[in-house]
Amino acid sequence: MSQSVLGRLLRGSAVAGLLIGWMLASPMVRAGDASAGADVFKSECAECHSPKQGKNKKGPSLFGIVGRPAGSITDYNYSDALKQAHWTWTTDKLHDYLSRPAKQANPGTKMKYDGLDDAKQLEDLITYLGTLH
Ligand code: HEC
Repeated sequence: MSQSVLGRLLRGSAVAGLLIGWMLASPMVRAGDASAGADVFKSECAECHSPKQGKNKKGPSLFGIVGRPAGSITDYNYSDALKQAHWTWTTDKLHDYLSRPAKQANPGTKMKYDGLDDAKQLEDLITYLGTLH
């Protein structure tokens, strides 16, 4: 085998190795990009929500929202719809709630939001919300 054929083979396997590595890593990438999610938050939610602990705006603070029982911020005046909600905000629950109009996901809510229909933006946003601890 000549030098150059061997060199080409080696380079070829390095490329294949990179490709396999990329394919193995990509399911993790699908979990969402928190920094892109922070931008989604700014444009979609920040008008009414703060990510800071204890800071309520038109809506309650979203600090620690993933894992928080619905309607549980004591100094925020929730609608009856959220006061009487008996769920905890998991990533699945947030996914459902934020993907369609709020008044449909939680009838009687005073959150005026039509839902985020871009699946990638929604995934990124929920990943970002998970970092608010
Ligand atoms: C126009 C204002 C507005 C926008 C925009 C908005 N919200 Fe809300 N949100 C509210 C209000 C008001 C409430 C309280 C609803 C109630 O008491 O019925 C609320 C409640 C919530 C709750 C429930 C909190 C709890 O303590 O149970 C979550 C979660 C939430 N919003 C997430 C979001 C996210 C994420 C976005 C952006 C994609 C968003 N909201 C956009 C006004 C808004």
